[in-house]
Amino acid sequence: SRAALIDRYGRVATDLRVSLTDRCNLRCTYCMPAEGLPWLPGPDLLTDDEVGRLVRIAVEQLGVREIRFTGGEPLLRRGLVGIVAAAAALEPRPRLSLTTNAIGLDRLARPLADAGLDRVNISLDTLDPARFVRLAHRRRLDDTLAGIAAAEAAGLTPIKINTVLMRGVNDDEAVPLLAFALDRGYELRFIEQMPLDAGHTWRRDNMVTAAEILERLGRAYDLLPDPAERGGAPAETWLVAGHVLPDGRPARVGVIASVTQPFCRACDRTRLTADGAVRNCLFSQEETSLRAVMRAGGSDEDLARLWREAMWGKLPGHGINDPAFLQPARPMSAIGG
Ligand code: GTP
Ligand code: 5AD
Ligand code: SF4
Repeated sequence: SRAALIDRYGRVATDLRVSLTDRCNLRCTYCMPAEGLPWLPGPDLLTDDEVGRLVRIAVEQLGVREIRFTGGEPLLRRGLVGIVAAAAALEPRPRLSLTTNAIGLDRLARPLADAGLDRVNISLDTLDPARFVRLAHRRRLDDTLAGIAAAEAAGLTPIKINTVLMRGVNDDEAVPLLAFALDRGYELRFIEQMPLDAGHTWRRDNMVTAAEILERLGRAYDLLPDPAERGGAPAETWLVAGHVLPDGRPARVGVIASVTQPFCRACDRTRLTADGAVRNCLFSQEETSLRAVMRAGGSDEDLARLWREAMWGKLPGHGINDPAFLQPARPMSAIGG
């Protein structure tokens, strides 16, 4: 059977986000407490072959065309290069990308590109080494910058940089970060902070909104509407007047306004956690474990059917703006962004 992943509101999920580990080598305050979290027990994690099987089912039976590997930090997953190679061998070949903090990419960018990875999105919230330590609790800014350079050298392009702006913390760096990205031909996206931190400390007042970000950028740059089709992309993009990429195309900047301008109506995503559960939304309260069925000898058809059922129940939106909103039990690091 080859029925797509549709939900009762008519959305079709063609974009799969696979979390490969809940661990990370940074401790960004909006994601993980300094002391870390109780990690998933080893036996609960999908093996490389189990990931490969579910990814194959998604592509061959469920219509998935785009796969993003996430974490925690996906570069910490030992079998990553092999997992990418297996996904790249599927027919039709899915587009393959990675969302990472880039630590370790100086060594892994080339093998990943050779294995078939197409591009990377890299998290970078500050260019100041001391502030990086306050934000991420690790002295690793140089490693991240080296990883970004290696990704570019390996052709993992277009490179997108993700920045979560926080009031009074790094919101003064919006313009310097954009200048950094424009200089190098990367697409920077500013992200509104979402209530997905492990400590449940998110507060609306601390969130720097899309409107504020655009106001700040507008003082230094001339932003023009982007004629490109947005599709299911979370980022709304603008062209930066007077700036071009190395290949001559116009430079862009994006804003991911998940909270103030939700894009759930156009959502094309399905998610797989590192312990083998399908999540139909970042914010869903329910998930469907495929691991037990798989380990009990379930067939590809059984797994595909469970996956379709899980997606059918997807809610119309995340509800962050509803008074009754409940943060999901799993934090971002265990869901996979
Ligand atoms: P591209 O295909 O390169 O545009 O990737 P992306 O922006 O969808 O993915 P990335 O992993 O770089 O995520 C950037 C930000 O968007 C992160 O803060 C994610 O949590 C957020 N994000 C990704 N997918 C979703 C989604 O389905 N819903 C919401 N609300 N946010 C999302
Ligand atoms: N809100 C918004 N974005 C977040 N990220 C991590 N936690 C949050 C949050 N609470 C971002 C990271 C990374 C991407 C996967 O998600 O910065 O770029
Ligand atoms: Fe899709 Fe849920 Fe994200 Fe909305 S919050 S865009 S429905 S994953």
